[in-house]
Amino acid sequence: MTSLQTNSFPATPELPSDSGSQVQQPPTLLSPCDMGRFSLSHRIVLAPLSRLRSYNFTAQPHAALYYSQRATMGGFLIGEASGISETAQGYPNTPGIWRTEHVEAWKPIVKAVHDKGGLFFCQLWHAGRVSYRSFQPNGDPPISCTDKPPATEKDICGSTVPEYPPPQPLTAEGITQVVNDYRVAARNAMEAGFDGVEIHGGNGYLIDQFLKDQVNDRRDDEYGGSLENRCRFALEVVKAVSEEIGGHRVGIRLSPFANYNDCGDSDPEALGEFMCKSLNRYGILYCHMIEPRMVTQFEKREGEGRSLLAMRKAFKGMFIVAGGYDKEEGEKVIRNGGADLVAFGRLYLANPDLPKRFELGAALNEYDRSTFYTHDPVIGYTDYPFLEMH
Ligand code: PHB
Repeated sequence: MTSLQTNSFPATPELPSDSGSQVQQPPTLLSPCDMGRFSLSHRIVLAPLSRLRSYNFTAQPHAALYYSQRATMGGFLIGEASGISETAQGYPNTPGIWRTEHVEAWKPIVKAVHDKGGLFFCQLWHAGRVSYRSFQPNGDPPISCTDKPPATEKDICGSTVPEYPPPQPLTAEGITQVVNDYRVAARNAMEAGFDGVEIHGGNGYLIDQFLKDQVNDRRDDEYGGSLENRCRFALEVVKAVSEEIGGHRVGIRLSPFANYNDCGDSDPEALGEFMCKSLNRYGILYCHMIEPRMVTQFEKREGEGRSLLAMRKAFKGMFIVAGGYDKEEGEKVIRNGGADLVAFGRLYLANPDLPKRFELGAALNEYDRSTFYTHDPVIGYTDYPFLEMH
């Protein structure tokens, strides 16, 4: 098996150069990995998972237990989507990172992860048009690149939602304001103690709405029309956040192939590759891509021969993949050089000691989908059992 050759920055460390005549072993999920200035002890990442348990849009003390249960020495956790401003929310009980109270609420949670030696990034999120007036200040319409609402689909909880209202398209001044909101939110995340931030650029939320031509199809300014123009907003956010906290602390999550929230693109390969090449300008730490097989939020489909490989090659930083991975597929993508790290959502949610279980080849707890998005501070949240060690 040959490793994919990439000109990764920072250099992927898995193959020591001074190994003399020893046969070089390909990395595994449990191999250490230098992610920029951060030293990871394994490659199993907690995916960003909304759990809807942050009452009043504020992270709660029970999150300290939840995240610390999943923290390992040198393991990497990505926090759930956190709203960057008062217009950012679209679901009940998601946390914010725009107010001082939000920052204070995150501090003990971040500390609990650090106390176990974990590395913790805050995911910065804006729902854009996937929202209702009831979530918006003064009952205003939600914001987007367009005035076209998403078609009503099932929401993240799997229930059919009420019709979305037509959003208000952002003006150029409005865009400048939102870019600044991301900047301030990144600063707030650092103030809360996070090690860095992941910009949520996927899954049909605000940034993705600008990126995709099936949503961003009616602007005639520099933020709409051509591929380059549709990517402008995302890249302005990346630039602002990187200038604020340093590109070495910034990642981005993208889902070019997905059409969650009625947000698809006619040429996802071109979009993904253009973004990856453009991101190299900012020297950010990582790009976190969702696999093409995750076309919808709820089930894995065949990827129809589509793959992330061209994007992996185009991007010079660390590459994280996500989307329905199990241990075997995770080992394979790491071994083949298709990714540096693999993010696990459902499996990690249900197995607080997932790295240990993978290491031992132990059986996994099954996840209970019915409690993914309920609001209980314990059930389906912090009550999944650990392996019993005798
Ligand atoms: C998602 O990325 O799918 C997502 C983000 C934020 C939420 C729920 C889902 O609150």
